[in-house]
Amino acid sequence: RTAVSAKDPSATSSTVSDVDTTTDLPLREIPGSYGIPFFQPIKDRLEYFYADGGRVAYFRSRVEKFQSTVFRANMPPGPFIASDPKVIVLLDAKSFPILFDVSKVEKKDLFTGTYMPSTKLTGGYRILSYLDPSEPRHAQLKNLLFFMLKSSAPRIIPKFQETYTELFESLDIDLAKNGKAAFNDIAEQAAFRFLGRAYFDVNPEETKLGTGAPKLITLWVLFNLGPQVSIGLPWFLEEPLLHFFKLPSFLIKSSYQKLYDFFISAATPILEHAETLGVPKEEAAHNILFAVCFNTFGGIKILFPNTLKWIALAGKDLHLKLAEEVRGVIKTVGEGQLTMAAIEQMPLLKSVVYESLRIDPPVPLQYAKAKQDLTIESHDARFNVKKGEMLFGFQPFATKDPKIFDRPEEFVPDRFVGDGEELLKYVAWSNGPETEDPTVGNKQCAGKNFVVLITRLFLIEFFRRYDSFEAEAVDSGLGATITLTSLTKASF
Ligand code: HEM
Repeated sequence: RTAVSAKDPSATSSTVSDVDTTTDLPLREIPGSYGIPFFQPIKDRLEYFYADGGRVAYFRSRVEKFQSTVFRANMPPGPFIASDPKVIVLLDAKSFPILFDVSKVEKKDLFTGTYMPSTKLTGGYRILSYLDPSEPRHAQLKNLLFFMLKSSAPRIIPKFQETYTELFESLDIDLAKNGKAAFNDIAEQAAFRFLGRAYFDVNPEETKLGTGAPKLITLWVLFNLGPQVSIGLPWFLEEPLLHFFKLPSFLIKSSYQKLYDFFISAATPILEHAETLGVPKEEAAHNILFAVCFNTFGGIKILFPNTLKWIALAGKDLHLKLAEEVRGVIKTVGEGQLTMAAIEQMPLLKSVVYESLRIDPPVPLQYAKAKQDLTIESHDARFNVKKGEMLFGFQPFATKDPKIFDRPEEFVPDRFVGDGEELLKYVAWSNGPETEDPTVGNKQCAGKNFVVLITRLFLIEFFRRYDSFEAEAVDSGLGATITLTSLTKASF
């Protein structure tokens, strides 16, 4: 039973839902209000960041109050950074996909929400992530990134194996020496080293950048995302530092320049290709920097530790099953080698990666503006939205929608095995259904298949080497901090 019927040729499969769109859901006024301008947005921001339960409680309490998964609310940052904090919040798997439907919504300058970081942080350019597909540059730049990803294809598996073997060797040494090993910092070094090797065939640590990139990137990302994140400081420091005003871009200029110099020299073949697509070299270099540092590195920085956290919590039984599957398939299908065909034959491993992306989508906030008057449907009602209104989805509520997923808050490793694959259309970490692909006409993540592949590779290499492991995880808004406390070497 799919909802996208042949009756409505304008519907895309992004509007898939399990409830027939022709049913007579009651039309309801969107509940909620924005309160007194200036004061209420600040009060709401304090609640969102600092009240018990944080942003999850901010959304959950309003779902309960309004008895609706669609309602009006303010979203941070508000004053003085965003002139208009008003959004329509979408918190179920049925209304959420409207955010992907670029025939109905506009995606211009709202990658980071109700404010846009200064273009001084990105060389003066509006980067691809901020462009609507109706802008001609969108297709040119997305094609450029498709080219970059495609040229890296033959290097992905070998460079991943090389780099992550180095990572596991250092973890083994730290663990032997100290009885524990901090994962995040050395994993970030490995991630950037791998990206340099895979995308450009260059080890960035052997350039002027040395091992500095992860720290430079993290700080630069904070200049971009500061208005919508909490970094764990007390509110009276964090509010004036991050949430009332943007951090001034000149403070990060020299750090950014160091990154830029690396890309201008390492990405030569891709920059040359850019010119054939009609994109000037400098604009291409700033876009490649953004795709590698913000989109890719920023995503992996959150995704890998979170994935490890859930697998650690799932326990030894799962670890052994993954080790058996991975090693068995490599032996039989790959004749001892890891191949793309072998990876496809690992259903449990594939499901675990999707389940991690479902339960903890690394980029949880999505925005889009209504291009026209619209009707949005939740499971319970229809709502009219006016042209120009800002729509906002908090993705974990859509991918943990109890009307779609059994035991939605639980990490169920084999959720997407066999018939479970039907549910992949509700996995939306890439800003689109997992069953669809990025194109120059949509806003789905250009790196969707690359991300799924390298997360599989991470677990494959892990469970080739180890039977099991134990870890402590501390959650933060930007991914878990992981300390490994044991790593049991492969015994079979
Ligand atoms: C867009 C997530 C890795 C390139 C997006 C969006 C999300 C996302 C949620 C949509 C944002 C929005 O419009 O609201 C992630 C995550 C990643 C990741 C979680 C890693 C774990 C990558 C990689 C690339 C990439 C490897 C590769 C080059 C892009 C680009 C866009 C995008 C270019 C904008 C697409 C467009 O304008 O059509 N990503 N991404 N991302 N991502 Fe990724």
